[in-house]
Amino acid sequence: MLQKWWHNTIGYQIYPKSFQDTNGDGIGDLKGVTAHLDDLADLGINVIWLCPVNKSPMKDHGYDISDYEEIDPMFGSKDDLRELIREADRRGIKILMDLVVNHTSSEHPWFQKALKDPDGEYGKYYMIQEGKGGKAPNNWRSIFGGSAWERIGDTNRYYLHLFTKWQPDLNWENPALRQKIYEMVNRWLDLGIRGFRVDAISHLKKDFSGASLTADGADGLADGFACFTNAEGIGVFLDELRENTFQRYDAMTIGEVDEGLPPGALTKYIGENGYFSTIFDFCHSIFHVGAAQWRDQPTAMMDELKKLLFAKQEMVRGRGLLCNYMENHDLSRAVERFIPENEIDFYSSSLVGGINFFLPGIVFLYQGQAIGMRDFRKKELSEFKDPTTFVMYEEQIKNGMTAEESFAQINLESREHARTPMQWNDTPNAGFSTVEPWFAVNPNYHSINYEAQKKDPDSLYAFYKKMIALRKSGDFQELFIYGSFTPVYEEEPGVIAYRRSYDGRSVLIINNAKPQETALALPGTVTNTLLSNYDKVILNDGMIQLKRYQTVVLELL
Ligand code: NOJ
Ligand code: CA
Repeated sequence: MLQKWWHNTIGYQIYPKSFQDTNGDGIGDLKGVTAHLDDLADLGINVIWLCPVNKSPMKDHGYDISDYEEIDPMFGSKDDLRELIREADRRGIKILMDLVVNHTSSEHPWFQKALKDPDGEYGKYYMIQEGKGGKAPNNWRSIFGGSAWERIGDTNRYYLHLFTKWQPDLNWENPALRQKIYEMVNRWLDLGIRGFRVDAISHLKKDFSGASLTADGADGLADGFACFTNAEGIGVFLDELRENTFQRYDAMTIGEVDEGLPPGALTKYIGENGYFSTIFDFCHSIFHVGAAQWRDQPTAMMDELKKLLFAKQEMVRGRGLLCNYMENHDLSRAVERFIPENEIDFYSSSLVGGINFFLPGIVFLYQGQAIGMRDFRKKELSEFKDPTTFVMYEEQIKNGMTAEESFAQINLESREHARTPMQWNDTPNAGFSTVEPWFAVNPNYHSINYEAQKKDPDSLYAFYKKMIALRKSGDFQELFIYGSFTPVYEEEPGVIAYRRSYDGRSVLIINNAKPQETALALPGTVTNTLLSNYDKVILNDGMIQLKRYQTVVLELL
């Protein structure tokens, strides 16, 4: 595999709104990110992905951009971004932004002009179609619920929005629009950012050719995912995007593209001539141990996860690197999703971090993950903030849930759980802000916070630091990036284990992802314990005795 600068990425995703407020308005800002660069460098990360900071009415917390050229004043200024890039660079950290080009905000001037004159130049920037028989052009359901079409005033025209109605989809079929996007992308690269996480990019191409779909819900709508996810022909847009922008800057790009890839297509997306440097691996995002399906069989859930993780590695073997992560701003906290409530502690939390940390590929952490931030369940729906939450709540009721069931579902899995303010210390508002934050801090910050864990050599934070240091260590860095991957103990329930080998060295990673102890016969002689979340690794007579939720990295002869 041709070696690239970003192959050694230990990434860290920042949700700026909830990271650190520096000007006392209760909202995190760019200066807040700069203020914590030393902390991030201490953890050992070398790439930051900033969730959107462009100008936005914040209907989807920045994923609805109204001005691609500007920073939203809520987050600061372009000078603040320049300062962040400069200061990060001094610490060997590169900055990626979020690139949101499947849609804009409905307040974007392009869309405002399109509304006024749908037949004019800007009308062609969006997907505007005539209605059929007094109804929307087709019955696609939006990814966030409800029809994917919104009627324009009292005309018979509708615009497409795969997400909220405040996020009209751009028309990538229009070369003039594409050109505008490329120029914009290059301006940010010229400013010094080193790449992008590319939002919702698998939806750029829409296939309108089919007949209306058979309704699959009480709302009379249908899941149109197959018609607008990695649709035939999307590669033309993605190739062109890469050639006109990223490639010219040797930029790092992480596509949000995992779902719906046709068999064999994965390697077009990543690898040497792939559309992107890497893509997020969504294997784990479908699991929640609190869901009815898994509640009584958490170990079976881990086995299912193992199958998906390993199958994905087989698909990319030697041809490209996946981006391994456990948390992001769209998922509730990982420990809540993988570990039964009564089993959550240091051991199980560190195991969750270890499950995919040493797989081939790069790794990404989300803010708060390394200190084990937890979901903050709400008493009332009104405590949530995201417009999408409310749309989903209503949609679930329309589709047959009671109000209580719909609320319980949201309270269990809401993506908003990941967005509570960062817990820096034990002072009021967890040190996030001097005033009441835009979204309530989890009251557990007295016991779960960065400052306390930084001081404690046995904390989860200390364990994450060790994992990172091991991945980056001179002896093993190349092994963890480029080494071969061989599943081990595949049939062993609740055990997620694999061997990595490179240049004559071999490492065995074992995660005993269950509350029971396990004894396993070792496939070789252990020469070195590189990492364990327990003080002791019990080896005797060619066997290893693993404690509940023990995770180990061993060097083998
Ligand atoms: C994926 C982003 O991660 C999510 O937060 C957003 O709502 C959608 N894309 C739409 O942009
Ligand atoms: Ca602020």
